[in-house]
Amino acid sequence: MAQGLDVFEERIRTALSEELGAGAAQAQLEIPKQAEHGEFALPCFNLAKARGGNPAVLAAELAAKLRVPEVQAAAAGPFLNFKLDRTALAAAVLQNAGGSDYGRGPGGQTVLLDFSSPNIAKPMHVGHLRSTVIGAALSRIFEHLGHRVVCINHLGDWGSQFGKLVAAWQRWGDEAALEQDPIQHLLDLYVRYHAEEEKDPRLAQEAKRAFQELESGADGEVRRTWKRFTELSLREFDKVYRRLGVHFDFIRGESWYEDKLEDALRWLESRGVLEESEGALIVNLESEGIKTPCLVKTAHGTTLYVTRDIAAARSRLDEFGFDLALYVVGNEQKLHFEQLKAVLRRCGAAWESRMEHVPFGLVRLAEGKLSTREGRVLLLSEVLDRAVELARGIVAEKNPNHPDPERAAEAIGVGAVVFHDLKHQRARDVVFDWKVVLSFEGDTGPYLQYTHARCCAILRKAGRPAPDPRGVDPALLADAGELMAALGRFPMALREAAAKREPMLLAAQLLRIAAAGNAFYRDRRVLGSEAPLEDARLAAIAALRGTLALGLRLLGVPAPEEM
Ligand code: ARG
Repeated sequence: MAQGLDVFEERIRTALSEELGAGAAQAQLEIPKQAEHGEFALPCFNLAKARGGNPAVLAAELAAKLRVPEVQAAAAGPFLNFKLDRTALAAAVLQNAGGSDYGRGPGGQTVLLDFSSPNIAKPMHVGHLRSTVIGAALSRIFEHLGHRVVCINHLGDWGSQFGKLVAAWQRWGDEAALEQDPIQHLLDLYVRYHAEEEKDPRLAQEAKRAFQELESGADGEVRRTWKRFTELSLREFDKVYRRLGVHFDFIRGESWYEDKLEDALRWLESRGVLEESEGALIVNLESEGIKTPCLVKTAHGTTLYVTRDIAAARSRLDEFGFDLALYVVGNEQKLHFEQLKAVLRRCGAAWESRMEHVPFGLVRLAEGKLSTREGRVLLLSEVLDRAVELARGIVAEKNPNHPDPERAAEAIGVGAVVFHDLKHQRARDVVFDWKVVLSFEGDTGPYLQYTHARCCAILRKAGRPAPDPRGVDPALLADAGELMAALGRFPMALREAAAKREPMLLAAQLLRIAAAGNAFYRDRRVLGSEAPLEDARLAAIAALRGTLALGLRLLGVPAPEEM
């Protein structure tokens, strides 16, 4: 399924292995920093070292000897550069770029993604935004590459805090307030519980009793109340998921694994890893290089977050037989996932190596008047609302006659927030600055959307269906090498984004494509050039539009046809 530049890369590799034999295994092709150096480069340092020679001499030797169809090899010091024939490049890229299947892969694995996973009765904050957008982007990318993807929302819906919440509700609950703003009311109850717990010891008793009842599985008042809190929370979360276009195959909270916990504990026992420590049950992880033992059951007999993750991992393996299970959860849970995997390892479950924590950094607000008042968490829905509000102003200013300004504002606002998140390396902290997020210039979502809409406008203005790209004369696009190379690297960027679990690599490639695309139509007449040339250029615009649309869709950024 060679697509885009893959065809040429394969040819270069074949030629290299014919020339170097087994030594070619060490040959790492790179992308040259400067376009004039061509599309691929081979640094010869390691190769020369292995053969006891000089890198520049080896590069010159290889340049003279290598024969790669439609590729020119030239030495530049210790580098061997490969420049593709411009017509062949355009022809190869126009084969599939722009179609909705561009970059598809053979896949074949079952990839499980655990992401978003907010806690019920609490608002989703911007930290959950990261998990949601990164997880959803990865799920679409893996799916496009041909894998079977299973998306699970591991809601935080279990734990002793729900006993407290039910107790607080029974004392101070207010029906009207709950209906009006469920999450706010539940948050208020929780805060009040903690404020009064010390003054009133009966409160703790009530909370304990409530959680015991919940854990017993009895279908009474407590369970009904907890269930209602879950449903109300989900209704709120759903509003955000709908705006972001995010779907899950399973919304399965921690409580879903309740009836699998005993079995999980018995399994730990049977593997001989369970130890008693001051009435609690732990797994010692020193043999795995982790000092902190993993607490799986407290002295009070309750299980923990990690116990439920142990049960969940086993149950998921059983149900889906995953080849890969990615947990998209913040950096701060590093130890949790290390412990989880180490416990499984100690049990001899070799499949734990297929589980991977995909961590990400924090979101920080840039200082300034747009940051929230001190002490308040920034809520996800507020971020989206604010972005859409700003986008509304931009649409009114830039396109006062827009046929559907409200929809455009939603697409731009949401798209800006999503892209801003995904353009950063995920492990880094993200600084959130409204001015940057919503700018139409620079590396932003609106800039990409705008480039896409420009292509749509050109194609609309042509007043006829875009010509079949495979039918145009590729020689007429020999001057569009940068755009063709950028488009041609899309499949590779997708694969790398999946391999490194890094949507940013796709985001960065889209920015390169847009930059080359903007230069292409800025420097050339597209409409109104003579017939075969106009066809060829329109085909290039169509390939540009289609690739941007596909890439944005995979990232979860809407691509409106008009802005
Ligand atoms: N609910 C957790 C939180 O908000 C995240 C859960 C992540 N998934 C998991 N399987 N532990 O911090």
